[in-house]
Amino acid sequence: MTAKLAAVKQVFEQRSMYDAVVTGNYMHHAELIAALAAWAKEFGRPLRIVDVGCGDASLAAKSFAVAPIEHYIGVDIAESSIEQARATTAAWNGRVELICGNLFDALHGLADESANVVLASHSLHHFSTADKVKLLREIGRVLEPGGVLLWIDAVRDEGESRDEFVNGLAGEIKRDWTLLSVEERGRAAEHVLTSDFPETEAWMMEQTAAAGLSTESMLLKGGSFRGWAFKKR
Ligand SMILES: C[S@@+](CC[C@H](N)C(=O)[O-])C[C@H]1O[C@@H](n2cnc3c(N)ncnc32)[C@H](O)[C@@H]1O
Repeated sequence: MTAKLAAVKQVFEQRSMYDAVVTGNYMHHAELIAALAAWAKEFGRPLRIVDVGCGDASLAAKSFAVAPIEHYIGVDIAESSIEQARATTAAWNGRVELICGNLFDALHGLADESANVVLASHSLHHFSTADKVKLLREIGRVLEPGGVLLWIDAVRDEGESRDEFVNGLAGEIKRDWTLLSVEERGRAAEHVLTSDFPETEAWMMEQTAAAGLSTESMLLKGGSFRGWAFKKR
């Protein structure tokens, strides 16, 4: 494991900090869950999901609580999250595969056109620009035609540098994420400064198109975070 990935893993192994982020709705999970539930209803087909960077799988479980689940694969590098995901996805008994490992390797191991949904929520920004391009190609390969990438992430404004973005978000975390202890806020801000590599919306549109995916709809626009559904052509 690279030092960069080990640092990301260390942050997410301590579940309580990210749990407080979700409870405080600092990354707009409440709006996202509503948007994903509405999207699944509209999609109208049984879901064969690959959830990359699934965490404790609570986002998927809440968003798709009433959707028909044919198969769910959750991938995360943090053992504690995968452990928790086992309980979270218990209702999908027999249709769940949980993989503790690097999401890049896990995607690489999946067959062509074996999923109709890839959920990538707040996980791809941990990768370099070059690795995101490779990941999008893998996602395009794993999705069947008509399948959908649900990509939610931190997004830089046009003309905003990475440093400007991460310094701004780190400041917001220290000031506003008050459900976290002061120590946790410091750790969360440090994580953003060292491990977040957000892209611009234009870059995301260009690279998803290059991977054979067309923009279908916007799912989320809240603060530094945005999300879209991209359909495989
Ligand atoms: C910010 S959390 C998002 C969790 C969940 N998807 C959500 O939206 O609430 C990012 C997750 O991605 C996982 N992660 C980051 N890089 C990863 C990698 N290279 N391979 C597997 N998991 C990774 C982390 O362990 C963490 O659980």
